[in-house]
Parts: sequence; C-alpha cells; structure tokens
Amino acid sequence: MMPGRVRFANVRADRMGSLRASSAERQGTKRLRRKAPTRELKFIDLFAGLGGFHLALSQLGHRCVFASELDPELAILYERNFGLKPSGDIRKVKLRNIPKHDVLCAGFPCQPFSKAGDQKGLRCPQWGDLIDYVVAILRYRKPKFFIIENVPNLVRHNRGRTWKKIKERLQEAGYDVDDEKLSPHMFGIPQIRERAFIIGQRGNLNGFKWPDKSPSKKLSIKDILDRNPAGARKLPIQFLGYLNAWQDFLNRFPKKDELPSFPIWAMEFGATYPFENRTPFSTGYRKLDRYRGSFGKSLKGLNPEDVRAALPPYARYEEKRFPDWKVEFIRKNRAFYKKHKKLIDKWLYQITDFAPSFQKLEWNVKGGKRRIWSYIVRFRASGIRIKKPTTAPSLVAMTTSQVPIIGWERRYMTPRECSRLQSMGKLRYLPRAKDEAYKALGNAVNVTVVKEIAERLLHHDSARVQ
Ligand SMILES: C[S@@+](CC[C@H](N)C(=O)[O-])C[C@H]1O[C@@H](n2cnc3c(N)ncnc32)[C@H](O)[C@@H]1O
Repeated sequence: MMPGRVRFANVRADRMGSLRASSAERQGTKRLRRKAPTRELKFIDLFAGLGGFHLALSQLGHRCVFASELDPELAILYERNFGLKPSGDIRKVKLRNIPKHDVLCAGFPCQPFSKAGDQKGLRCPQWGDLIDYVVAILRYRKPKFFIIENVPNLVRHNRGRTWKKIKERLQEAGYDVDDEKLSPHMFGIPQIRERAFIIGQRGNLNGFKWPDKSPSKKLSIKDILDRNPAGARKLPIQFLGYLNAWQDFLNRFPKKDELPSFPIWAMEFGATYPFENRTPFSTGYRKLDRYRGSFGKSLKGLNPEDVRAALPPYARYEEKRFPDWKVEFIRKNRAFYKKHKKLIDKWLYQITDFAPSFQKLEWNVKGGKRRIWSYIVRFRASGIRIKKPTTAPSLVAMTTSQVPIIGWERRYMTPRECSRLQSMGKLRYLPRAKDEAYKALGNAVNVTVVKEIAERLLHHDSARVQ
C-alpha cells in the first residue's frame, strides 16, 4: 500500500460505536463534490496529531509524503491509520530529509497563544519557536501552498503584534498570506469551534475566496450521536446529585417568571459584603463585621482568614475593585434573590455543601422546557452550563472533565461521537485510553473545515498545479 493512502476498506464497527460518517459529514462531502483537482498534489502534515489535515487532503485526492508528531503514542496511531510513520520532533529533522511537496499543513501547538494558557506567545520556551521550523521548511522546499491552523487568539495575541510578526515572516518567505476565523458549525457540523486558519500561496492568492460561512441547515447534535452506546461513561452519582438539586430549583421556580439569562451564583443568595465601588479586600477584612458572606454567613467576629474563607472564591482576590462584569453579575444575583427569597430559602440548603463550581448555573436555554435532562450539560470551572442540543461546545484538550454530557442518556459523549464532531468519524483507530482520545480530539483540526478551505485554495483556477 502506498504511504499516505487511507485504508478505509472493510472497516467494521468498533466497540465504541460505528465508524460511520455522520449525516453532517456526508453533507460536507456533498458540498465539496464539485471540481476534481488537475492532479494529485503532495502534502506534508506537521504537528500531525490524529491527522485532521491528512484526512482532509487525502479525501480530496492528495498524497501525504511526510508527517511529524512528537507524541510517540500518537505517532504509532498515525502509522496504523495512514500507513505512514511520522518523524518525531520537527526540530530534529534535517531540512533535506523533508521531501519535496506542494502543500505544507501545520496545526502547531496552541498553548502559547491560547486564552486558556500562559499566553507567552513566541517567547514560550516549549513551543514558541515552532513557527521558525515551519518558516524554514517553506524557505527550503518552497511548496506552492500552506495551510496553518491555530486558536483564534493567535491573531489577537499581544494586541495583534504576534500575528503581525508571523505574517511578515511568511511574506518574507515568498507567500501571499491571508487568514480567516472559521468553525465547523458554519459547514453543517454541530460543533462551535472557532479557529484561525492561515493560508498562503507563493506569489499571490489571486482569485482565492474563503468558503461561505452560513450554516446550510438546522444543526442538531443528535446527527452525530449513537443511541445508548456500549461503554459510554455514565454520569457519576454525585454529579447526578448536583443536577437533581438544580432540577429541583427549576421545578420550584414560578412558571410565569423568566429564568435568569445571567449566570446564577447561588453563593450570592444572602450575601451583603461590599462589591460596588470596593471589594472585601479593599475594605479590609477586619472591617466587615456587619456584612454577610456566601449564603448569608455572618462575618461578625471572624478573624481575617475565616472572613476570606466565608466569601465566594471570586470575591477573595486582592483587588481594589471588581471588574464591571463581576459587579453586574453580583448585583443581578442579589436582586434575583430579593425577588424570589421565599422560594430560594426553602431550596438553598441542598447545595451549600457543593464545591463552588457546582453552586453556579448557566441556563442557556431561554424559553425552553425546564428539564435539565433534555439538554447538553457541561461541568465548567465557571459553573454548570445547560445548553440546547443544537451544537456541541468546542472540544477542549485541556481537561477531559469538560466532555459534553448527553442529558437524556445521563452519560458523557463517547470518543467516537466526539470524533464525528471533528468530522473524523471514519478514522479507524483512536487512542485506546478514553482520556487520551478526548485530549487528542480536543487538539485536532476539523476535517470538514480543512476540506472546505483546501478545495478552494488548491483548486481555484489560478492556483492549479499543472
Ligand atoms: C494542536 S495539535 C495538532 C493536531 C492535528 N492537527 C490533528 O488534526 O490532530 C499539535 C500537535 O503537535 C505535536 N507537537 C508538539 N511539539 C512538536 C514537535 N516539536 N515536533 C512535532 N510535533 C510536535 C503535539 O504532540 C500535538 O499532537
């Protein structure tokens, strides 16, 4: 078998669910069945991961001639899936050992630029220099095109200076460069995952148009789900308890009243500590005797350490003033409590022992039926988020505890279902350990989005390689 060819024949269902392409993926494929390329192009897949770029370009009829992946487990998996053994650390690969190619694909690590990371950018000692290696390959092999993917914050990082620097270097290497933010939900895939895509063509990008962003149909996460799949991770009993307590709150809440569209912070119910123009810290912990902390706990006579502990975690920072958004949430929650005090006081005892992130609820289903089990649930550090089953939230690599929960089956999404959110439903092998699979999928690039871009970039008339 030729390296880089995807072996999908005789694929059978695996234990986690069927290897079918979801209807969303099929729709994406239909959109793309337009022009065939003039000839097969050769591409390289840097920071290959699960091979999102590989799947996309090979499905368009192109051939992978080189891949690089540092993680040994992912590299083995890549070879099993694609029959091509990736080189390891790209820093150690000699330029002359990278074969000639027409398209360079790279989804380099996003942590230095991600809002969730340390934001060290190009100065990040672990990853900040990786773009140098990409530029060096572009200079040495001069492929006609490149496609790079990263978090949207790459473009905003350091007030746009980081992106400006990168762009200049790509241009100096001989490329006309453009960038766009795209998400799978714009192409019929039920996942909201905005990413920055950067493309380049030697000379100029004349005639290239980014794909149309408007979603072509009503999205439903149900398109990519299996029904009660074997081996799915069930929601642990204590998590059922958290949701049952909040369901009880919803049941008690008057039907005629609208549920808040702001996050409900239950620890504000009964609290009176200062927040408008000062914070408990700037007031001084010794001067808070007449106030109340979380759930109305009296601060009278407490030593400073105990005062701090009696405040909600978000009110403990050593800051002079809370940011405006926090002031607004606190104000709204206290007004909400005042209005519904009777009802809340009878219910509140159920959640006072929960960890703080379970004491907050984001009800993102305005006007929908008040039944948590009909929705997608996510346990986030900022609270429990309930959302409609139209799209899944973006898969994240940082933590597997944030895998979306299918409320009506009281379980987490399986890795196979998550693979469909990345349009990787046909990828034969996923990491065996579930946590590793979620992590790799959270790092991956969506195949449909890459296909949408690549089809236009590689096949637009002035770009064809003869
Ligand atoms: C954001 S992920 C890319 C995911 C990939 N595009 C996909 O579709 O799955 C970045 C990948 O780069 C790999 N990586 C990090 N440093 C590397 C290096 N120095 N050389 C090669 N790969 C590296 C990581 O192990 C990770 O799998």
